[in-house]
Amino acid sequence: RAELLAGVAGTRGLLCLLSDRIDREVLDAAGPGLKVISTLSVGFDHLALDEIKKRGIRVGYTPDVLTDATAELSVALLLSACRRLPEAAEQVKSGGWTTWKPLWMCGYGLSDSTVGIIGLGRIGQAVARRLKPFGVRKFLYTGSAPKPEIAAEFGAEFVPLTRLAEESDFVVVTCALTPATQGMCNKDFFGRMKKTSVFVNTSRGAVVNQEDLYHALAQGQIAAAGLDVTTPEPLPTDHPLLTLKNCVILPHIGSATYATRSTMAVLAANNLLAGLRGEPMPHELKL
Ligand code: NDP
Ligand code: DGY
Repeated sequence: RAELLAGVAGTRGLLCLLSDRIDREVLDAAGPGLKVISTLSVGFDHLALDEIKKRGIRVGYTPDVLTDATAELSVALLLSACRRLPEAAEQVKSGGWTTWKPLWMCGYGLSDSTVGIIGLGRIGQAVARRLKPFGVRKFLYTGSAPKPEIAAEFGAEFVPLTRLAEESDFVVVTCALTPATQGMCNKDFFGRMKKTSVFVNTSRGAVVNQEDLYHALAQGQIAAAGLDVTTPEPLPTDHPLLTLKNCVILPHIGSATYATRSTMAVLAANNLLAGLRGEPMPHELKL
């Protein structure tokens, strides 16, 4: 942070990461010459957009190019959590694998299941597209409004959040972090989920009330969870969630393929350069 505050002074353009909070303090430190911010991410919850807009600063971001990689990771995380892969792999190393046992290391499968997608945006749709061939029976989704044309591809039904929680065997969170979604997956939400259901979050950690999630997992209110994003990041190594066998936690690697990160970097650089030249950006955020 100190390096950012010092380095940004007097600059016209800023290329930032999702871990850089670009708030009034940073904008003040930059001074009135700052014209463009380019973030190496599709998420923009780390940017103080009201303040940025007020100062006439343009913003570039990286949608689309990371959708496939993030959807793929979301599916991997879902399967890891529902089929208990890290826990099972650990048993092989620790000697817990003694013989083949009928009910040992059983989990939950996607076949004939109901999947609830919170936020059927670019990544949410790409997740549904990948999960459908696993034999999912029904897709539910939530968002600010129904999207019948998009939902038709999956036969997905727009439902209130409460119904999505109650009926889904798998909940996948792929929405943006906004004031409306912050803390949305809370005690009430987890309390409505089935004991056999699995929760997956690849959006932002703050969409989830982590204390409520911990209790839901520890008390067996839900079966398992897979998180690629947490609050804070990195999650402290003594965090209670890390003591649970039924919680798989990854270090925010949704878009982390070599090809995707390279494409994101080029796009972010081109956004920045276009902004500096006063040209249309390849991907500009409409403020
Ligand atoms: P999109 O803008 O395409 O999708 C965001 C979705 O959030 C929209 O469908 C929107 O629905 C939904 N949403 C907004 N408000 C609500 C609400 N109140 N309830 C439910 N849904 C809501 O973005 P992307 O799909 O490209 O990315 C989504 C997010 O994923 C990013 O903002 C980022 O935070 C995260 N991400 C994480 C990655 C990782 O590494 N784990 C990688 C990439 C992204 P509607 O249109 O109806 O408003
Ligand atoms: C994003 O782009 O918002 C992700 O969290 C990282 O790729």
